[in-house]
Amino acid sequence: QIPSLKEVFKTDFHIGAAVNPKTLKSSKELLDYHFSSITAENVMKFEVIHPKKDTYDFTQADLLADYARKNDKKMRGHTLVWHNQTPNWVFENTNKEKVLSMMKQHIFKIVERYKDVVHAWDVVNEAIDDKAETFYRKSPWLDLAGEEFIEKAFLFAHEADPQATLFYNDYNACDPVKSEKIYQLVKRLKEKGVPIHGIGMQAHWNIYDPSIDEIRAAIKKYVSLGVEIHITEMDVSVFEFEDKRTDLTQPTEEMISMQQKRYREFFDIFKEYKEHIGSVTFWGIADDYTWLDDFPQKGRKNWPFLFDDKQQPKEVFFHIIK
Ligand code: G3I
Repeated sequence: QIPSLKEVFKTDFHIGAAVNPKTLKSSKELLDYHFSSITAENVMKFEVIHPKKDTYDFTQADLLADYARKNDKKMRGHTLVWHNQTPNWVFENTNKEKVLSMMKQHIFKIVERYKDVVHAWDVVNEAIDDKAETFYRKSPWLDLAGEEFIEKAFLFAHEADPQATLFYNDYNACDPVKSEKIYQLVKRLKEKGVPIHGIGMQAHWNIYDPSIDEIRAAIKKYVSLGVEIHITEMDVSVFEFEDKRTDLTQPTEEMISMQQKRYREFFDIFKEYKEHIGSVTFWGIADDYTWLDDFPQKGRKNWPFLFDDKQQPKEVFFHIIK
């Protein structure tokens, strides 16, 4: 029997995985044994859980929440307010006042339903632009309600569950330009007394980017705000972002050894900041299924995790538990 990840890192942070109803079955053994936390990859998102104005569909989210309840797993809620995977009706025939009141209803309904099991919410996801020139990312929430939509989301979530830890979650969170903006946003919110308790660093990384120095600088900056950090969506692609190859049927030796080295460095730095990092969640479980198989090249296999497509530990697994 190999060591269990959640046991190995027990005194450091929770080890999580993004799941959906399919992988809950196909990777059940790994999930049961290695992970202490789950996040819904898609089924708590607006388009799934609240597809029409007066229709909520909790079927799939309940499946995951029940698994967490019965198996004593922590659950992170993902995500309440995002520009993506949100149905058009939300933004049609509305105005600032109406859209915010609808947002409040949505947040209350979902947060209250799962408040016994979800301890942390990604309240607002990806609201900041990657580029230096524009602060906020273009989004219908911003168009309709202005930047206030962000603080309102946190206020509503806090009202709905005062016990929950509330996160701002984003990708490229180690990029020097974007991390400074994330820092500024969270600082402003905290100064205003908005209930925000954490920063989710998504960690869609690859075998070359970001550098360890960039990661350290970002973590230090966030920690200086006195917020908790969760590594929320970790996967380490074997392709550099610019690499457009589609012909590989398995990763090259170089990719494999780089991935091992990088994962080791990432976990070393997480451990260095373990007092501030509450959880490290992978954005999937095993290489048989990852959203990266369709991104950025549709249908191109990626091998970003610690377990292979047969649910077996890869060598990289042993590099991080050493
Ligand atoms: O549900 C439909 C299904 O009915 C249809 O037949 C099928 C055909 O393509 O598509 C299904 O929807 C897909 C959905 O995942 C559910 O599987 C969408 O096409 C697909 O685009 C969607 O991708 C998700 C993506 O968010 C959407 O932006 C990924 O699974 C999910 O991993 C990804 O997760 C995001 C985080 O929430 C936020 N951070 C970035 C991260 C990666 O993009």
